[in-house]
Amino acid sequence: MSTSDKSTTEEKHTVTVIDNKSGRQFELEVLSGEMGPDVIDIRKLYQEFDYFTYDPGYTSTASCDSAITFIDGEKGILLHRGYKIEELAAESDFMDVSYMLLFGHLPNAQQQERFDTEIKHHSLVDEQLIRFFNGFRRDAHPMAIMVGVVGALSAFYHDSLEISDPKQRHLATIRLIAKMPTIAAMAYKYAIGQPFVYPDNSLSYTGNFLKMMFSVPAEEYVPNPVLEKAIDCLFVLHADHEQNASTSTVRLAGSSQANPFACIAAGIASLWGPAHGGANEAVLNMLTEIGSVDRIPEFIARAKDRNDPFRLMGFGHRVYKNYDPRAQVLKSSAHAVLKELGVEDQPLFELALELERIAREDEYFIQKKLFPNVDFYSGIILQAMGFPTSMFTVMFAIPRTAGWLSQWHEMLGDPVQKIGRPRQRYIGAKPRKFVPKDERG
Ligand code: SDX
Repeated sequence: MSTSDKSTTEEKHTVTVIDNKSGRQFELEVLSGEMGPDVIDIRKLYQEFDYFTYDPGYTSTASCDSAITFIDGEKGILLHRGYKIEELAAESDFMDVSYMLLFGHLPNAQQQERFDTEIKHHSLVDEQLIRFFNGFRRDAHPMAIMVGVVGALSAFYHDSLEISDPKQRHLATIRLIAKMPTIAAMAYKYAIGQPFVYPDNSLSYTGNFLKMMFSVPAEEYVPNPVLEKAIDCLFVLHADHEQNASTSTVRLAGSSQANPFACIAAGIASLWGPAHGGANEAVLNMLTEIGSVDRIPEFIARAKDRNDPFRLMGFGHRVYKNYDPRAQVLKSSAHAVLKELGVEDQPLFELALELERIAREDEYFIQKKLFPNVDFYSGIILQAMGFPTSMFTVMFAIPRTAGWLSQWHEMLGDPVQKIGRPRQRYIGAKPRKFVPKDERG
């Protein structure tokens, strides 16, 4: 229970606003959470005082109450339901973390078993959906397919659209977590002209995904346990991350009471951007363009040049002004995966390590607190495992679906929740007379 909810006689914590033009003065209440900065409650600011706040990009705005994820950007701390990401990555697995994000606590054996069974029971997609794929070009970007097909799930699963029914909300949640890997693997198989591979429920969530991605009907396939664990760890690291752009998109779409499949499709669309989840694909393209260590200074200079739109992809973060703890885990995981695959000296990994070293010694990056983020090393691992660059952001969308859904449930269950509808600072034309076509210059 945060202190803002406690009804005590102690004096309210407030801030005073003084308008030095009009001389108006008023107080706004300050609320505290369990951790992190206090918040100034501005909910009545317009209604009572006729002001809007101004915060493009929401750099200083808390859009909701949430108990799911906590980030301390200065210290590089990431907690999910209070558990450190480093411990979850080392000790837990993606099904465990998905359950914990959704239900608030780590599952016991019985709860885990039931959740696993539900997910496996829904890993197939409606057979009719397969015909969807034939409408796409073979060279369609897999994220374009994901946005289209996931949104279209609402055309098939009519018994899990009613968001006011907890049973239907739960069923949609299970279906989405279960079907994301299946649809992702289908998008890949379609691109390379191989037959779709049906789910194999005898395998783990991640093992099943690897089989649907890389097996062919003509041969036996057993997932490599080291790679299975590496992908599962990558899924844990990408599962949720507070109110990032795609999560805020899902919340905003959900606030209009759109169905869950439409909300997740909106999240996938937002994640696709290279400033967000699309950065993992952009990092690999950037490393490939840099090509060799001796060209690093040229690209560092471009990243620092305000007149050059180039940015060092995989570096910087709105919240982390320290090393992204997920990047630390991925950097060591990359070593393990490359060793398992016998490509320890993978040139792009060596290049990434050198690029990080040089950037982190550069005054510009130090002063602006730009560190590697979750996307900087993930692509190295995925490429080494045989995933095409175009599938990298799909690999982000699969696990983030669990986080998006946990945030969607929390939003729907929030008693103060209402449709999201920001305002603006209007800088356009004042009222003016219409000019008929024949009188225009
Ligand atoms: C993800 O929000 C989340 O939690 C997202 C995420 C999640 O799990 O959901 O963590 C996943 O999206 C990670 C971020 C992936 N994106 C990239 O790696 C793309 C490269 N990074 C940048 O585009 C940028 O750092 C952002 C978009 C990530 C953050 O941008 P901000 O917070 O809006 O910061 P900014 O653009 O205001 O930058 C502050 C300054 C600027 O310089 P000045 O205008 O002050 O002179 O730092 C500079 C920027 O030009 N800067 C960079 C840079 N990132 C910021 N300069 C060079 N290279 C960069 N990568």
